[in-house]
Amino acid sequence: MSNQTASRHEPTLSERADALEHEMIAELDRRVVKSVIYTSGDRDPTQAIPPPPGTGPFMMGDDPRLQKMPSKPTLIDFFKYRFGPANHVLQSATHALKAGQNEKIVLACLLHDISVAGFIRGDHGYWGAQMIAPYVDEEVSWAIQYHQALRFFADESVGYGYPDAYLRYFGKDYEPEPYIQRDYEYARNHKWYMSSRSITLHDIYSFDPNAVVSLDDFVDIIGRNFRQPKEGLGFDGSPSAHIWRAMIWPTKFL
Ligand SMILES: [Fe+2]
Ligand SMILES: [Fe+2]
Repeated sequence: MSNQTASRHEPTLSERADALEHEMIAELDRRVVKSVIYTSGDRDPTQAIPPPPGTGPFMMGDDPRLQKMPSKPTLIDFFKYRFGPANHVLQSATHALKAGQNEKIVLACLLHDISVAGFIRGDHGYWGAQMIAPYVDEEVSWAIQYHQALRFFADESVGYGYPDAYLRYFGKDYEPEPYIQRDYEYARNHKWYMSSRSITLHDIYSFDPNAVVSLDDFVDIIGRNFRQPKEGLGFDGSPSAHIWRAMIWPTKFL
């Protein structure tokens, strides 16, 4: 059997995912046009976007394929309804708590990768910092912004070595881009260096597999250190409200 024949009979994983998505969209009676950034790489963004299936109106507002968010969502609601499994950040925050770190650092550890969990991976430190800046002490968002760069640079004086995981993820010859090197140089001489460095010290990918971690352990710390807007995240008119709205309505046409 030729490869061509085989591929006709056995759709690839991505073809099956596309077919399933088309089926779901057909049931929605809404046409979903994915933002260019979702598909760049899978397709060339300079080419015209293929027309979405169906004839109904374009998707605006709530996407019925997602869990509906409360009208005034809190940070905890985002953990529940939009962020992927939070084990990594919960483990990091628990590690920081057990090490006796102050609440600002514990909160920074809890929120350090929320952009990866719910928004965009690339430059997640910068995006995550921007998301929370209006609601936290400046030191917390600063620490989150720069942990991204500091992760790539060892500081043996505080016991931080280049992560083994990064050797596997990026290869042994990987060199951080010049802007990361520049921001590392800036951060290492800043008065809040150790706050950001602390995130990297507690930024662990696994520890005791029997340890039970829960967001419940951090509700009070969030309450004391995260200024939850009364209108709900996304609706308070802050400089980052639109980022929270993009996570509530990721498929909104405009
Ligand atoms: Fe990170
Ligand atoms: Fe992390």
